[in-house]
Amino acid sequence: MEKPTIAQKKPFILDMTPGTYYWCACGKSSNQPFCDGSHKGTAFTPIKTEIAEQKKVAWCGCKHSANKPFCDGAHANL
Ligand code: FES
Repeated sequence: MEKPTIAQKKPFILDMTPGTYYWCACGKSSNQPFCDGSHKGTAFTPIKTEIAEQKKVAWCGCKHSANKPFCDGAHANL
């Protein structure tokens, strides 16, 4: 199976406003942690995520989380 590119070995911690977001699963976006269309030609597609309320979100940056699109600490084992 194709492996995602590791964008960074730590989460992207961002203050989010409510809305719909597309988390980059391939790791190639230059607008991390969100999709910019760079996954074209790879096996990956972004994960659509609804953020219902204003809050701090730890988006997975290594792309290896088992709880995508959120960080689960998987970057510590890469
Ligand atoms: S750019 Fe990575 S999933 Fe779209």
